[in-house]
Amino acid sequence: MTRSMSQASPEVASLHHLLGHPIDLAGHIETHGALAVSLGHGTSWQRALAASLEESGLAGRGGGGFPASIKLAVARAGGHGGTVLVNGMESEPASDKDKLLLTRAPHLVLDGAQYLAALCRAKRIVVCIPIGSDGVAAAVGHAIDERSSARYARVSETVVRPPDRFVAGEESALVNFVENGLSLPVFRADKGSALRIQKRPALVHNAETLAHIALIARNGPGPFRARGMAEEPGTCLVTIGGAVELPGVVEVDRGVALRDIAMLSRPVEPAQALLVGGYGGTWVGPEDFGTPYASMSLRMIGASAGVGIIVVLGAEACGVAESARIARFLADQSAGQCGPCVFGLPAVADDLAQLARGQVGTGLMPRLDRRLGEISGRGACRHPDGAVNLVRSALKVFAADVAAHAQGRPCPYRHKPSALRFPRPITI
Ligand SMILES: Cc1cc2nc3c(=O)[nH]c(=O)nc-3n(C[C@H](O)[C@H](O)[C@H](O)COP(=O)(O)O)c2cc1C
Ligand code: SF4
Repeated sequence: MTRSMSQASPEVASLHHLLGHPIDLAGHIETHGALAVSLGHGTSWQRALAASLEESGLAGRGGGGFPASIKLAVARAGGHGGTVLVNGMESEPASDKDKLLLTRAPHLVLDGAQYLAALCRAKRIVVCIPIGSDGVAAAVGHAIDERSSARYARVSETVVRPPDRFVAGEESALVNFVENGLSLPVFRADKGSALRIQKRPALVHNAETLAHIALIARNGPGPFRARGMAEEPGTCLVTIGGAVELPGVVEVDRGVALRDIAMLSRPVEPAQALLVGGYGGTWVGPEDFGTPYASMSLRMIGASAGVGIIVVLGAEACGVAESARIARFLADQSAGQCGPCVFGLPAVADDLAQLARGQVGTGLMPRLDRRLGEISGRGACRHPDGAVNLVRSALKVFAADVAAHAQGRPCPYRHKPSALRFPRPITI
């Protein structure tokens, strides 16, 4: 399924060397040394680790890109006895990085959670792996058994299995699932506000973020900051797919140009666009292929780093049809509780499907534009916002094709099988 390869860099990237084969507890300790945490409150060890995390400049790798040190400070201020949740949901269909990490280096991810649990005085770690990802759950379950037998873990570690749905990986949906068994996002006026389970703090982190935390805790912030950019340090895992010869997971420094990342997987056709950040991400056109893979640079072209995903759309593909498939997939994934998302996303998907078929009345384009404006920012979670950004980027990047489709001249490639990965075929 996946393969790892390093960036064309002489150095061994920080996570890359772990991705070659599964590593058991003995191998993990041999490579990194044992977990060394101090369980007191306000100890010098804790102050030093919190300072290391802040100095590292690590931002979350689950899509939002929020600074890990700020999330930690909020969780610590919320009091003791909480939960650290490992987000191993990887709900983006085009992503493989977390599955790879959790099967090859589960101890590193779990150690990252243990370090955070010690800093927050949390009482347990819960690893969330969706129903259906049985190989990943088995690998993590085995790692937890090894740690338990060796009395290695400091606080309890368990696996829970939320449903395999796109929205189930959203952090408030995970918290809701662990607390109530309901895999639904919870409305929060401030989506960055603290999460709680049974009135105690809940700190949710992506699996990759936790692996970086485990390395920073052991090695200090220096090696992490030595990679990437001064304003956005470190490396990140990126799943590359689409029209490439070698699809798989790579580790690259933040700030490497999008074009250079895509080249690592050897595109088989000239690229007409790159899908950056997954199905809740954005299309990027050739004029921006030189953009550094870093939040600020991507923001300047209306994109975001999102989850580490780059999909190459070859020249012989219909970007309008592919976007219509993504819109349909995202509409089907709504958790069904907020009107603008429940009714708006299917309506947008219908509009795009009509556009892809070239069956467009005069009112379609203004109606689509109005609908996108009505949906954005109106859901309990950011799922509809991701869908709106994706569609807006499609209208911009494929503007010439959109115009041709809108005039009843759809391109011949619209009937080609999709180059994108979906859990089941999408009909438009
Ligand atoms: C619809 C939706 C789905 C999401 N799915 C995932 C997921 O599968 N895995 C993940 O790590 N984060 C996912 N996120 C982001 C999480 O809500 C959260 O920001 C992340 O787990 C925080 O971890 P980080 O700070 O380490 O990035 C999703 C967000 C949204 C809006
Ligand atoms: S915005 Fe959509 S996906 Fe998010 S909670 Fe509301 S209905 Fe569910």
